[in-house]
Parts: sequence; C-alpha cells; structure tokens
Amino acid sequence: MLGNAQTHKKVLKKSQSRNRAHRHCLHQWANLIIFCRLLNWSTRIRMFITFEGLDFSGKSTQVQLFADRLSQERHKVLVLREPGSTAISEKIRSILLDKQSLGMADLTELFLFSASRSQLVHEVIQPALEQGTIVVCDRFYDSTTAYQGWGRGISLDAIRIINRAATNGLAPDITYFLDIPVNEVETRMRQQKSGADRMESSGRGFYERVRHGYLQLAQEERQRFEVLDGLHPVEEIHNIVWNRFLRQATRLS
Ligand SMILES: Nc1ncnc2c1ncn2[C@@H]1O[C@H](COP(=O)(O)OP(=O)(O)OP(=O)(O)O)[C@@H](O)[C@H]1O
Ligand SMILES: [Mg+2]
Repeated sequence: MLGNAQTHKKVLKKSQSRNRAHRHCLHQWANLIIFCRLLNWSTRIRMFITFEGLDFSGKSTQVQLFADRLSQERHKVLVLREPGSTAISEKIRSILLDKQSLGMADLTELFLFSASRSQLVHEVIQPALEQGTIVVCDRFYDSTTAYQGWGRGISLDAIRIINRAATNGLAPDITYFLDIPVNEVETRMRQQKSGADRMESSGRGFYERVRHGYLQLAQEERQRFEVLDGLHPVEEIHNIVWNRFLRQATRLS
C-alpha cells in the first residue's frame, strides 16, 4: 500500500514539473511572438504632427480620424492635446479655461500656456519621439503665436523666444491648419454649446486677428504648414491630411 502511495506521489510530482515546463515553454513562445510583432508588424517613424485652427474648426475631428488611420496601419501613435496631457498641464488648463479667470493678464496667459507646453514636451513628447512614436498634438506653439501674439497683441519677437524656450527647440514636422471664417466659428459654437469658455468669449475682432495670424504663419513656413479648407467635408479633409502625411513619411524614411 505504502509502495503504491509513493509511486503515485512520484508520478504526480513528475506530471506537475512537466506541466510547469510546458507552461514555461508557452510563455517563452508568447514573448517571442510579441517581440516579432514589435519588430516586424509595427512601422516606426519618428514624427511630430500638429493640428491648428480657430475654435470649432474641426481639429479634434481630424486628429481622431488621423490617429485611427495611423493605428490601423500599425504605426505607433500618441495623441495629445494642448493645453494639457500631463497632470501638471491639465491643472494649468483648468485655470486657463475657467470663466472665473477673466481678470487674467495677457502675459500671465502666455506664461501659463508656455508652462503647460514645457511640461508636456519634457515629460511626454520628447521621450515618445525618442522611442519612434508618431506624436499627434491638438494645438502647439503656433496657437500661442496666433492667439497671444496676433490675437492679444503681445510682441511676436518675445513670443518666438518664449516658444523656443518652452519647447526646447522642438518644431513639428507637419502642421495642419484648418481654416474657417469667423462666422463659421460662431455658427458651430451656437450649434454645439450652451456657454463659451474664457478663451472662446474673446469676441469677433479677436478671432479675425487670430485667423490672420495663422495665415501669416502658414505663408512664412510653407514647408511645414498644410492649409486645409475647414468648410470642406470631413472625409475630404482627412484624405488630404493622409496624403500629405504619406509624402512626408516617404521623405523621412
Ligand atoms: N469639415 C467639417 N464640416 C462641418 N462641420 C464640421 C467639420 N469638422 C468638424 N465639424 C463640426 O464642428 C464642430 C467642432 O469640431 P471639433 O470639435 O472637431 O473642432 P475643434 O477645432 O476641435 O474645436 P475646439 O477648438 O473647441 O476643441 C463639431 O460639431 C464637428 O462635428
Ligand atoms: Mg477640440
């Protein structure tokens, strides 16, 4: 009886260690498959792409479509928005958009946007780019030039220096500017929202200057900017975005 029990124990032990070895082997295979996928199946391009435009111009709509397509094509992609996208930057965002911050001085606004951006570049964008990720950002420093420079009237030279410092010299590879007339901003704002946030309460003249500023920037940096007619259908705009991306990706690879 005792002999039988010992034999049984031995068989059980053997079978347990066989199972462990089998599980270990499966685990190794799974790791190998994941590794191969990372190597072969995802295309690594280091690219930084921004979307700009007036409020309600369709930036978030296009960012989403573009990011989805990049993921479908197995690109590693990271989507960010400004101001925000880090814990510190999101806190700054809430101060900037808060209606109770109406007494904010123009320079305070400039430094808050820049502080939020500086944190984002340092904590997220630069590390992601170093890993070969495509970083897509909803607004970046052109917003500061257009809104705080052209819109609020802060010296463009000062803004250029602050932008460069806040971004550690990082510039986008492509900037899509979604251009819509100011009356379209008002129409879309009415359709979508009950109350405008602090930035959106700045008035018509402000938006006209901001739009003019964007167009000026696009003229100065034609290589980087792609100006899109934001009144065109969403899918049509998306196709232009995608084709421009493909051209740039070919150039970089
Ligand atoms: N090409 C387009 N034609 C008509 N309407 C559009 C187009 N693109 C976006 N919209 C609509 O305009 C509104 C604003 O779009 P979206 O939120 O993408 O803009 P946004 O630029 O991200 O705005 P915000 O600056 O407020 O974040 C939405 O209701 C959206 O459906
Ligand atoms: Mg948006």
